[in-house]
Amino acid sequence: MGRDMRIAMIGAGYVGLVSGACLADFGHQVVCVDKDAHRIAALERGEISIYEPGLNELVRANVKEGRLSFATRFGEAVRAADAVFLAVGTPSRRGDGHADLSFVYDATREIAAALGGFTVIITKSTVPVGTSDEIERIIFEERPDAEFAVVSNPEFLREGAAIYDFKHPNRIVVGALDERAREVMADIYRPLCLNQAPILYTTRRNAELIKYASNAFLATKITFINEMADLCERVGADIQEVARGIGLDHRIGPKFLHAGPGFGGSCLPKDMRALIKTAQDHDIRLRIIETVLSINDVRKRAMARKVAAIFSGALRGKTVAVLGLTFKPNTDDMREAPSIALITALQDMGAVVRAFDPAGMDQAQAVLERVVYCENAYECVEGTDAVVVVTEWEQFRALDLERLRDLMACPVMVDLRNIYRPEEVRSRGFAYASIGRVQSRPIAADHERWPASLARAREDMPSL
Ligand SMILES: NC(=O)c1ccc[n+]([C@@H]2O[C@H](COP(=O)([O-])OP(=O)(O)OC[C@H]3O[C@@H](n4cnc5c(N)ncnc54)[C@H](O)[C@@H]3O)[C@@H](O)[C@H]2O)c1
Repeated sequence: MGRDMRIAMIGAGYVGLVSGACLADFGHQVVCVDKDAHRIAALERGEISIYEPGLNELVRANVKEGRLSFATRFGEAVRAADAVFLAVGTPSRRGDGHADLSFVYDATREIAAALGGFTVIITKSTVPVGTSDEIERIIFEERPDAEFAVVSNPEFLREGAAIYDFKHPNRIVVGALDERAREVMADIYRPLCLNQAPILYTTRRNAELIKYASNAFLATKITFINEMADLCERVGADIQEVARGIGLDHRIGPKFLHAGPGFGGSCLPKDMRALIKTAQDHDIRLRIIETVLSINDVRKRAMARKVAAIFSGALRGKTVAVLGLTFKPNTDDMREAPSIALITALQDMGAVVRAFDPAGMDQAQAVLERVVYCENAYECVEGTDAVVVVTEWEQFRALDLERLRDLMACPVMVDLRNIYRPEEVRSRGFAYASIGRVQSRPIAADHERWPASLARAREDMPSL
């Protein structure tokens, strides 16, 4: 039988808080430690500063059961721990795109100072290959007396489905050669092994690289389908059908074949940059990944041209409603969200932007200026010349199109997630553009406002 572990989780952000709460839910005793005193004070009051479905309830239940607590200092939590997880951020370093490991190494030194008996230190943050070796070296240097082992255990959860993913992983990757450390990891994850989640034991370097290689593959798959979508638009094909046809091949699979405005978020872009830099340091060029990253960078801003195209390039003075700001649904995370590049480009072209997001408004206000923030989708489209769906939140999937049309000055929809069927939207009188499907022809640049523009908007033949 496994034993319940005492765990210190360093970093109470998306990964740390979700992992900490889930591990507590497995029966372990978990202390989440974060430098951010505001975050910890809020958690102690029962307030969770990040939006993640189910997280509130999970945290509250485990705090109530006495298995989950919070701290700003490492001392007691680390001293008493069998296992210390590092889940601090590893953002892109300003200037050169390498992973900024300063949070990891600062935390490592504090962990070293507080170590008690044999402790397993587990790198859950996404870190370049070799970082866990460096963590081990730092601890040896700071505490030659300490008994410890360093393990790499990268995290694959998706924001928005983080709890489900943590509890139902496709695999658990454990990079550890030390037998005692492997036993501790097996005890920590025993409840998942009962659910048949495979544990892949490997070396630390392999584990670190598995994480980056997985993300690189996913980013490549997204970029591949986005480029196919561009081709579909030119040749009068439909990317939805093409993607379905590709995805039915078991060697390829249907996931990550949804064409859209380009990938964003807290992981894929910065992990791609870090991977490219790691490779360059070893005199290797990852040309596929370099290309994926540059295609994606250009794509996000280029989405504004899709909106402009409907007005024959003339966006000055137009008002555009943007629905969805976060980089994906069910999160409040705005890091590298496609909406940022898109909105900035729309503003650069002279458009006034109104926006609504179900959870990301606070974070959006910190990064996007000169935007009129609205209370809901219908208020957002009032008097606008076009509505752009950027993030596929559930509540945008079944908007009352007639109500939308009647509120707008001009019925134009640009659906960057292909959540509507073109016939459905066009039959309500909209000009409709989406990704990788037949686009509506431009309406006149000096268009008379709805409904005079309707007749032209309905013309939906591709311009071959
Ligand atoms: N967000 C995801 O979906 C996801 C998925 C898989 C892996 N990851 C990786 O997990 C790591 C964490 O990502 P995140 O999104 O949770 O980041 P985050 O920014 O949400 O959280 C990081 C937390 O660490 C805290 N912190 C920083 N330095 C600290 C220190 N010295 N001591 C204590 N706390 C400290 C910060 O205050 C912050 O609360 C990153 O390496 C990321 O790449 C993230």
